[in-house]
Amino acid sequence: MSRDDLAAHLQFFADLGVDGVSRDRRWRQRVVVERPEAEERAEEPAPEEEPLMAEKQPSPATAAPAAGLAPSEALAAIRTDLGDCTRCKLHTLGRQQIVFGVGNPQADLMFVGEAPGADEDVQGIPFVGRAGQLLTKIIEAIGLTRDEVYIANVIKCRPPQNRNPEPDEVATCEPFLFRQIDVIQPKVIVALGKFAAQTLLRTLDPISRLRGRAYDYRGATLVPTFHPAYILRNPSSKRDVWEDMKRVRAILQGE
Ligand code: URA
Repeated sequence: MSRDDLAAHLQFFADLGVDGVSRDRRWRQRVVVERPEAEERAEEPAPEEEPLMAEKQPSPATAAPAAGLAPSEALAAIRTDLGDCTRCKLHTLGRQQIVFGVGNPQADLMFVGEAPGADEDVQGIPFVGRAGQLLTKIIEAIGLTRDEVYIANVIKCRPPQNRNPEPDEVATCEPFLFRQIDVIQPKVIVALGKFAAQTLLRTLDPISRLRGRAYDYRGATLVPTFHPAYILRNPSSKRDVWEDMKRVRAILQGE
């Protein structure tokens, strides 16, 4: 590990709230031991049967590519198409507003989460709650700022009680995400957590199996990693997230 890598590594852990180390061997063991099965159990409950393999409905979200528009204009056009969306039942289930996405319309790096939570629903901006603050630190740990990347979710409206999005909601909403991706044309997409990774990659494999690899996806390289909310509940997953983020940084740097 180079001196720069070591410094970045320590900074990442410090930023995430690790405030010290111990020479006690037992302390190191606790941090180092990785148990994928335990991680899977600790993840949000697996979606019920075949949620992500549901047949894709023809959706009014699909539109012709916005030829000739600047990326910011093309994103604005997608937002206009979305309107005050009533295409799925989430608009009747207590959402306050649509959380479209935020950031650089020409970002090389895009993050995709699951769906807005309570804070995001109030502010209309993805990843602004506790998990969002951690995501900001993760972005900064690889030398970027939130303004330089683009952040969105598979689902644009908050599901009630933060339940998992349902297949019809995914089928209705994901075309808007695909259009955002196609406009932004990021080099790297980080899928945050099980739900985003499974939805984008059309698989039911657990996140512990999906992460640690990179995938070709819509002209980008997709890197799955743990969701920041999962990291908050399972601090030992930071080590893996840091490995994933180093991979992201290397791809962005053309290594
Ligand atoms: N979790 C998500 O997946 N997305 C958000 O925007 C906030 C929390």
